[in-house]
Parts: sequence; structure tokens; C-alpha cells
Amino acid sequence: MTQAVLQTEQLSKKYRRRVVVDQLSLTVEQGDVFGFLGQNGAGKSTTIRMALGLMRPTSGRVRVLGHDMSRQPLRALKRVGAIIEGPAFYENFSGRQNLRMLAAMSGGAERQRIEMVLEIVGLRERARDPVRVYSHGMRQRLGIAQALLPNPEFIILDEPTDGLDPQGLCETRMLIQRLRDELGLTVMLSSHLLHEVEQICNRVAIIDEGRLLYQGPVADLIANDNWIQLRVDRVTEAYDLLSRNPRLSLDRNGDQSIYVKMDEEEVPLVNALLVQNGFRVMELSPRRESLERVFMRLTGKHEPKSKQETTQK
Ligand SMILES: Nc1ncnc2c1ncn2[C@@H]1O[C@H](COP(=O)(O)OP(=O)(O)OP(=O)(O)O)[C@@H](O)[C@H]1O
Ligand SMILES: [Mg+2]
Repeated sequence: MTQAVLQTEQLSKKYRRRVVVDQLSLTVEQGDVFGFLGQNGAGKSTTIRMALGLMRPTSGRVRVLGHDMSRQPLRALKRVGAIIEGPAFYENFSGRQNLRMLAAMSGGAERQRIEMVLEIVGLRERARDPVRVYSHGMRQRLGIAQALLPNPEFIILDEPTDGLDPQGLCETRMLIQRLRDELGLTVMLSSHLLHEVEQICNRVAIIDEGRLLYQGPVADLIANDNWIQLRVDRVTEAYDLLSRNPRLSLDRNGDQSIYVKMDEEEVPLVNALLVQNGFRVMELSPRRESLERVFMRLTGKHEPKSKQETTQK
């Protein structure tokens, strides 16, 4: 049996009376790229702080690489790298100098190691430039470089893709995949973007208000759902036609399209029905669920905070 890299048991954190992490039991296995998903304020950073021994849990336990964090934090931490909530750098110093200084503070790292992590994150060419001229994506990568300095087995990245543009997202995604595939690292990353996590991670935990909603393979989370997105002309009439079939569940997605819940075998039948009735079918594709929709499904709640889609009946 492989040993879990991170295991939290009934982990909780209260601020005064308010519970922000609630009986959270997470397991990150070796070789995972584990996504830790939740909306702003869900408790991700708080959980990560407790996992790294930076904050005491109100109750519950954390084991990292087999060590109990309340008893032997240093043994575990020697083998872990992390960035939490956007790392801070000395703006007037270069990326390389920043890494040297950060390394010096934590016992030093060999010159070679610094060059190696710069290479891994693709900042070698820009390593002489002061951090103040770095783009957001370059700063994030310098943060990852810092996390890699101690040559860890496990890295925890808090929102490594936050605020990145598509190109930055793609670079970070490839970097994280390389960390796992080429360096054999186990990675845990937090995010509030399901779509991102879906592309990078093999396993995911979703939390809401500190409570676990789901933990398991990403594929199971999304695939379970049999909802097909249908783009068609005359959406309202198409909706009326399909709603006469009691086997289909329907949901309007604004004026744009209809979601139809059906087994795969029924897709051609629905297509034929629409075409026979003179509709022009532009698209029939598996619905890409947003995090908001997954939340609604798992909690039965209405869409929280950000509203990206409008659903009308
Ligand atoms: N020191 C503190 N005192 C009181 N409340 C706090 C403190 N730190 C965090 N909280 C609260 O705990 C909750 C969880 O915060 P946390 O930073 O863990 O969320 P998060 O999931 O990381 O959110 P984000 O996506 O915005 O980074 C929030 O409601 C926050 O206001
Ligand atoms: Mg956070």
C-alpha cells in the first residue's frame, strides 16, 4: 500500500465562533496532481496553512509524508515546497538574486540548484532582470521556482493560476505536468476554476464553507453528468418539441442553447427528431460544467457569488 503524502483527519479551524474549515478529511496520494477547489473564502488557504504547520488547527490531525505535523513538522517540511497566496519578492533585485536570498534564509541552496530551478520554470533567460519588470505569470513561476528550491517530493501551490491569461495558464499547466512526470513530484494546487483543475489534475476535492462536497477522480465528477449541450436555431420551439418526450430532462441556458440530459445512444435520435422537424442543429456536445453548476448540483444551493451563466425556465 502506498503511503499518503498528505492526510488530514477531521481537520477544523474556527475563528471566534465561526467555523471556516469543518471536519475536513483529505488524502493526497503519491503521484497525484491534486486539485483543491473552492470559491473565494471557502477555506483553501486556511487548510493549506494548517497542512504546512503554519497555523494550529482547532481540532483534527494532519500527516505529511507520514509525519504528524503537531509533533514532527520539521521532518516533513524538509521534503515539502509551497507557495501560499502569491509569494512576495524584492522588487529591485533580479529573479536569480531573489532565489539566492530566499534560499539563504532557509539554510542555503547550491548555486547549481538555483540554476536548475530557473531552468525548470523557464526563467533562465530573464533571471537577470529585476522582479519589478516581471509579468504576473513570471512572478507566479518564480514562486514555483522558490517552492522547488529545497528539492521537495511534494509541493503545495495556492492558486498558481490565479489571474493568468490563456498563455500563462497553458505554460503553468505544462510546467505542473512536467513536475509530476519528469521530476516525480506530488502536487497539490488550489483553485477556484473547475475548468483549470479538470485539465491539470487527476484527483480533486471540492469544499464549500469549509466542508467537503466531493473528493475523488476528476473524471467521475464531470462524466457522471449526462447533460448534452444543444445549440439550435429557434431555441424556444426546439425546447417545446423536446419537452414532449418524457425521457428527456431539459434546462434552458439563456437564449443560447438548451441542456438535455440523455444517454449517449439517444443523441442521434434527438438530432434526427430536430432535423425532421426543420430545425438546424449547430452543436450537440457534452456540457462543460462550470464550478458553479457543480456546486449547485452537490449542494442544491443557488449559484454562489459569481454569476457566469443565466438559467431560465
Ligand atoms: N485571521 C483570520 N481571522 C478571521 N477570519 C479569517 C482569518 N483568516 C481567514 N479568515 C476567514 O476564513 C475564511 C476562509 O478563508 P481562506 O483564506 O482560507 O479562503 P480561501 O478559500 O483561500 O479563499 P480565496 O479563494 O479568496 O483565497 C474566510 O471567510 C476568511 O475571511
Ligand atoms: Mg486563498
